[in-house]
Amino acid sequence: MTPVFEEDPEGTGILAGVRARLGDDYFRRRIATEEFRDAEFRRILTTKGTYLKIHYIRPVERAILWCLGLWGRGRGELLGTVVRENTVLLGDSLPRAFDGFRILHLTDLHIDIDPRLVQSISRAVSKIDYDICVMTGDYRSMTIGPIDGTLALMRALRPALRGEVLAVLGNHDPLGLVPGLEEAGFSILLNEARVLRRGADALCFAGVDDPVVFGTDDLEKALSAAPPGAAKIVLSHSPRLCAEAGRAGASLLLCGHTHGGQICLPGGRMLFGNEGMPRCFLKGAWRRGSLHGYTSAGCGASGLPCRLNCPAEVVLHTLRREAWHLSR
Ligand SMILES: [Fe+2]
Repeated sequence: MTPVFEEDPEGTGILAGVRARLGDDYFRRRIATEEFRDAEFRRILTTKGTYLKIHYIRPVERAILWCLGLWGRGRGELLGTVVRENTVLLGDSLPRAFDGFRILHLTDLHIDIDPRLVQSISRAVSKIDYDICVMTGDYRSMTIGPIDGTLALMRALRPALRGEVLAVLGNHDPLGLVPGLEEAGFSILLNEARVLRRGADALCFAGVDDPVVFGTDDLEKALSAAPPGAAKIVLSHSPRLCAEAGRAGASLLLCGHTHGGQICLPGGRMLFGNEGMPRCFLKGAWRRGSLHGYTSAGCGASGLPCRLNCPAEVVLHTLRREAWHLSR
């Protein structure tokens, strides 16, 4: 098993382009973090307890769910991807030409946790009509180790997604994934933006690198490409950028990371908090000042290959010019 960070730690080979786009400082920070994580995984006793979690705690959790008769149901919720619809009322901040624009949002695929996710996600998106697809990170199941399996499954998923797919990396995703994902047809935004134009109107998708573990996000840089008058949509792995995105004049923040709790109490109530944020930001639609947001529960799983009272989802967002306050 060759850790990804060992393939091109200086960024002079296959990752040279990635290094140039991310910048030297952030490139080095990411590679150092990947190296640290790999070393931590090999030590039995660490503050995060990664080794113990993977080798002892998860098998126990799995056994408990099995004994409670919940394992089969949990597997079904993982592989029975549902489609959620969310209408975002942006008022005048949405240019006229983009009224009714539809965004398909996938996040936290962790696709190699169960190869059948390719079929379940493909099936869910096959009947949805949308203008663009975005993905907000966490394509790999583990946080360390090889990426070949992840890339093979992402390549298998790509034909199910129409048009351009804009994506950002999450805390499970090493930089080594970028060349392979881009070769497969995913457009990775490393603190970069994609501007869509319809006549004189523009919509700017600004994608930031992972703010959770790597801390290599740079929203200001990503938004610097936004033309005057464009509506700004931020793609981030985590909702923790909500204050910064609001200050930067973004209209919408799409994110994931929390898995909506993944293993929840009946009614979908999360067992634990996440990100040190109020729970209203951790699942579904939310609003903070003039910023609208959506934290998707995601379409995969991490740790255990199951979900409970929190099914895997893909989300179809429809942008409207209707004023939010008039709809209440
Ligand atoms: Fe995740």
